[in-house]
Amino acid sequence: MNVNGVAAVVTGAASGLGEATARELARRGAKVAIFDRDQARGEKVAAEIGGTFCEVDVTSDEKVATAFAKARETHGQERVLVNCAGVANAAKTVGRDKETKAAKGYPMQQFELAIQINLIGSFRCIANSALGMVDLDPLEDGEKGVIINTASVAAEDGQIGQAAYSASKGGVLAMTLPIARDLMNEGVRVNTILPGVFKTPMVGMMPQNVQDALGAQVPFPKRLGEAEEYARLALFLIENVYMNAASVRLDGGIRMAPR
Ligand SMILES: NC(=O)c1ccc[n+]([C@@H]2O[C@H](COP(=O)([O-])OP(=O)(O)OC[C@H]3O[C@@H](n4cnc5c(N)ncnc54)[C@H](O)[C@@H]3O)[C@@H](O)[C@H]2O)c1
Repeated sequence: MNVNGVAAVVTGAASGLGEATARELARRGAKVAIFDRDQARGEKVAAEIGGTFCEVDVTSDEKVATAFAKARETHGQERVLVNCAGVANAAKTVGRDKETKAAKGYPMQQFELAIQINLIGSFRCIANSALGMVDLDPLEDGEKGVIINTASVAAEDGQIGQAAYSASKGGVLAMTLPIARDLMNEGVRVNTILPGVFKTPMVGMMPQNVQDALGAQVPFPKRLGEAEEYARLALFLIENVYMNAASVRLDGGIRMAPR
């Protein structure tokens, strides 16, 4: 799909991978709606790229429906959805108290939050978006829309403490094929990117020595990924009509070790 003049929605676009994708889409002439719960940053990005900010929490049916309504009122029905909204958290299945060393149970609300935002939140946006896409006029090859999701290499090689995060991203990976099959007669494609370790605010929270160590583990090139590299893959998956039901690792060849 040629994105020039096309309406696009990018979730999590106030920061990191989503922001870079929103900027790349706008540079190529798309009308971009920034979906994020961070209003200040979202409005700033939207103003810089001539897009629209729609405040949203992807865990809420009502807020997601309101955000899509606002985006469509401004730009028309989107043909492109890129799901980047997500959170990372870490806790071991059985932890140890730092001081007493006593075993402690798993904080279940963390597990639920990762599933609610990363997995169900992505699906909520997909279902809303696809419902509108199927009524669009078909383009070349009968194509009506394209959806890109963001899983993680943690869907395949989750590390210590990543049970919740890996489960949420494994769900995104696993649902890619059935959703693409659900939509195959509607002209809507679905692809998922599995990023390795990227230099974004999510990873920037880690101490510099941890970031450096992660970069050194990448076979080639020996560094963290740049958000623009993610954006270029997202654009490729949008533009190439033969890419469907694909899950693509973008990771410099890294296979994550246990820790
Ligand atoms: N950075 C990496 O190394 C990396 C690696 C693998 C996967 N990912 C995935 O890529 C996606 C983007 O990550 P990033 O590194 O750009 O992170 P980021 O923290 O820079 O950006 C995430 C954005 O999502 C938004 N968001 C979070 N929860 C939300 C909610 N409930 N509703 C609406 N918006 C919400 C945040 O406000 C933020 O703007 C995430 O799904 C993340 O899990 C990142």
